[in-house]
Amino acid sequence: MSMENNKQSYTFPEGFWWGSSASATQTEGSVPGDGKGPNIWDHWFEQEPTRFFDGVGPNVTSQFYRKYKEDIRLMKEIGHNSFRLSISWSRLLPEGTGAVNEEAVSFYNDVINELIAHDIEPFVNLYHFDMPMALQEKGGWVNRQVVDDYVSYAELCFQLFGDRVKKWFTHNEPIVPVEGGYMYSFHYPNEVDFQKAVQVGYHELLSNAKAIAAYKKLKQDGKIGIILNLTPSYPRSQNPRDVEAAEMADAFFNRSFLDPAVKGHFPEKLVEVLKKEGFMPSMQEGDLELIQENTVDLLGINYYQPRRVKAKEHMPHPNAPFMPNHYFDAFDMPGRKMNVYRGWEIYEKGIYDILKKVQTDYDNIECFISENGMGVEGEERFKDEEGMIHDDYRIDFIAEHLKWVHQAIKEGSNVKGYHLWTFMDNWSWSNAYKNRYGFVSVDLQEDGKRTIKKSGYWFQSVSENNGF
Ligand code: BG6
Repeated sequence: MSMENNKQSYTFPEGFWWGSSASATQTEGSVPGDGKGPNIWDHWFEQEPTRFFDGVGPNVTSQFYRKYKEDIRLMKEIGHNSFRLSISWSRLLPEGTGAVNEEAVSFYNDVINELIAHDIEPFVNLYHFDMPMALQEKGGWVNRQVVDDYVSYAELCFQLFGDRVKKWFTHNEPIVPVEGGYMYSFHYPNEVDFQKAVQVGYHELLSNAKAIAAYKKLKQDGKIGIILNLTPSYPRSQNPRDVEAAEMADAFFNRSFLDPAVKGHFPEKLVEVLKKEGFMPSMQEGDLELIQENTVDLLGINYYQPRRVKAKEHMPHPNAPFMPNHYFDAFDMPGRKMNVYRGWEIYEKGIYDILKKVQTDYDNIECFISENGMGVEGEERFKDEEGMIHDDYRIDFIAEHLKWVHQAIKEGSNVKGYHLWTFMDNWSWSNAYKNRYGFVSVDLQEDGKRTIKKSGYWFQSVSENNGF
């Protein structure tokens, strides 16, 4: 199938969700007196500032906390009809449990009301990598008690904001805290411990099910989902060994969360390996029923890059700590198209392959593209005299992905929208402000001055025409 025909036009179903996504820790910043408690990012930055690009920490960010009114105006200007934000757990509950920070309640109320006043539907995510430090000190997601703390926090959010928020998400990319925190050392507490990694993933899934149960009980007449980063796994070849390696990678990195969240049970392939290697999580009676009974209504799909896989060539040293890649090797496919700034492959058809898989293997559950985007370093070089960044590469990137989304829709996919990562340039964890992703640029030298990029104006016309 070719997507070459540039003259073709692409019209999307009526009511398609056009917008972008962002997260609390990456955008809000903190100001004295806001009552926010520290989370793992504040703590880690204090401990090891050199882990962060140019020594920029989460205290700086894009000042959404102060500038949200201007930002929401700009969202409207560039055609948003929906926007995903996350609530910062440690802003709302500085200790993770107990006393509520009333400043935070007013802030999130104001943001939600302001969005609605601009006809932008708020999609609200409850957890985006930002464990309150007080709970991390108790073990974070390794500790089962934190699952219940999370559910209490989720219930509080539903009660406070659920009269207006009708799309909730329990987690964003729950596999990332597993990978970053307990396998590959890019999130706090940067341990390498596969047993803890499995426990963290299991507890996140349990917390997802329990939060869904709590939400349903309130009968608030909205939907609740999860946001997963799905990385389609492509084997190097059709050699059965390569294919098996790709299936293993898929089981570890996609199906580990997708199957329980959507189908209510864990993939057998994964369970077999965990049993064989001796890494089953600790579980309690009734957990699996809970997971079975509380699946998501709506699936957010974050797609950035595919995973290319080949059969293992060299076995790891017998004393090396266990890692999923004991079952496959990464394949550096010659000639692949790269986003060199982020080191991620760009493969537009991947978005279609995921949507088709969700359509055929996951009962065509209602879904949307909750993140897709391109981080580029040094975008200032594309600035014109008015200060607008001409990011034609981003326009191409979005358009090429949208063409494949459109194709999937033509073939019956239940995909309801497209959100770019992200609205404005924001703080990207340890990469800080190295790569810029936004529709709107943020000038850190000028108190975070906002300027719409060319892609923002382009997106406005896409949203207005419901296509391009
Ligand atoms: C997603 C996350 O993984 O990708 C975002 O949900 C993140 O929080 C985005 O910022 C881009 O990745 P990065 O590492 O370049 O910021």
